[in-house]
Amino acid sequence: MNIRQATSDDLLAMQNCNIMNLPENYQMKYYFYHALSWPQLSFVAEDHKGRIVGYVLAKMEEDPEEAPHGHITSLSVMRTYRRLGVAEKLMTQAQKNMVEVFNAQYVSLHVRKSNRAALNLYKDTLKFGIHKVEDKYYADGEDAYAMRKELQPSN
Ligand code: ACO
Repeated sequence: MNIRQATSDDLLAMQNCNIMNLPENYQMKYYFYHALSWPQLSFVAEDHKGRIVGYVLAKMEEDPEEAPHGHITSLSVMRTYRRLGVAEKLMTQAQKNMVEVFNAQYVSLHVRKSNRAALNLYKDTLKFGIHKVEDKYYADGEDAYAMRKELQPSN
């Protein structure tokens, strides 16, 4: 398994992986927005044949009122490649570059209340905390946990 920074050539495969694994899907222009604006923050996992089996799509938030912080827009790993530490590695890489390239002070994300696998990953493995609950955040009415993690320069 190889983890590397995503390029614009990867975006279709990332979109495909997203469609296979999550109900929150995005238009191709949104992938390009990430890749062109913050090319250092999105990563892919590829198998030995170079096929994309996981990705993290990430960005910086641009609110001048707040401290600089990163945001995980989307993360997923293809089913047969799960529980191998791929998501943890993708997240660690994105967090590292948020700090090193953009001086991010924390990273945020949203996750469904019912998403046990992702919640375990964020809370237990990556040490995110629950910042607040956002009622009916998702299109189907499910609530989201808004989660955050402070980032240290050494992360
Ligand atoms: N059940 C319980 N805990 C889990 C599970 C699971 N199915 N999967 C991962 N974890 C936790 C465990 O603590 C695990 O450590 P362990 O294997 O040592 O016990 C830890 O997370 C690290 O797991 P990874 O192997 O790094 O995670 P993986 O590569 O399997 O990817 C992911 C996890 C991304 C949640 C995957 O299951 C997936 O793609 N799910 C569907 C899409 C999804 O839910 N994405 C996140 C949405 S939120 C967002 O995008 C911001």
